[in-house]
Amino acid sequence: MLEVKDIVVRYGRREVIHELSLSVADGEVVTLIGSNGAGKTTTLKSISGLLRPVSGSIVFDGERIDTMQPHDIIARGVVQVPEGRLLFPDMSVGEHIELGGVRARSGGRTYSERVDWVHEMFPILLERRDQKAGTLSGGQQQMLAIARGLMANPRCLMLDEPSLGLAPIMVDLLADTIRSLHEAGITILLVEQRVDLALRLAHRGYVLETGRVVLEERAEVLLEDPRVKAAYLGA
Ligand SMILES: Nc1ncnc2c1ncn2[C@@H]1O[C@H](COP(=O)(O)OP(=O)(O)OP(=O)(O)O)[C@@H](O)[C@H]1O
Ligand SMILES: [Mg+2]
Repeated sequence: MLEVKDIVVRYGRREVIHELSLSVADGEVVTLIGSNGAGKTTTLKSISGLLRPVSGSIVFDGERIDTMQPHDIIARGVVQVPEGRLLFPDMSVGEHIELGGVRARSGGRTYSERVDWVHEMFPILLERRDQKAGTLSGGQQQMLAIARGLMANPRCLMLDEPSLGLAPIMVDLLADTIRSLHEAGITILLVEQRVDLALRLAHRGYVLETGRVVLEERAEVLLEDPRVKAAYLGA
């Protein structure tokens, strides 16, 4: 479904992604693992068109997307939930949900079906529909960021550090949400500091070090890999 091939990404003159390749199959949950600065966010931003690789290609459903504008990529169903949520503190919950549906992929659920769907998934967002996003708890803000992404009707949802700053109970809820999105047929590319959680949710994982893939394996294999254990699982 998604094929990233040999992408090189620079910030100014500094190259931070060096010929990175990865693929995600339809219906798969794939995780990108790596320490701070490894290039996880940069990779996701390149897929969603916020950054443009200087070489290599990104193909989604047989179509090159690395030359497209971000809104055209969203319209094809590739949607990123950004690191740090990036909500508008003074905008209401309901307005965020509406906004998420503005550049949606056509097909699948209708707009109003999606509104019902996200409210069913996150009832608190319906309760707090008129509340400003800035007044929500961290967990509720993450729900809203995901709900906004779902309003775009994604086929492939990219989540960047969704558990960041969440209380343990909210992390469990988040894990349940990711599982149910997978069951709903959404393909997921997950970046997560909680590597144990990510590997329990994912089918496969890629380990990134300074802008390169150094390991690619099935999640259960990575969970047992001594290098992964030592570097990311605190074992
Ligand atoms: N806007 C930017 N301008 C210049 N350099 C950047 C910019 N954003 C990131 N970098 C650099 O690019 C490299 C990759 O950063 P990136 O944010 O992709 O890493 P990450 O794996 O997402 O890290 P983290 O776990 O901290 O979120 C790092 O060396 C970082 O300092
Ligand atoms: Mg990041």
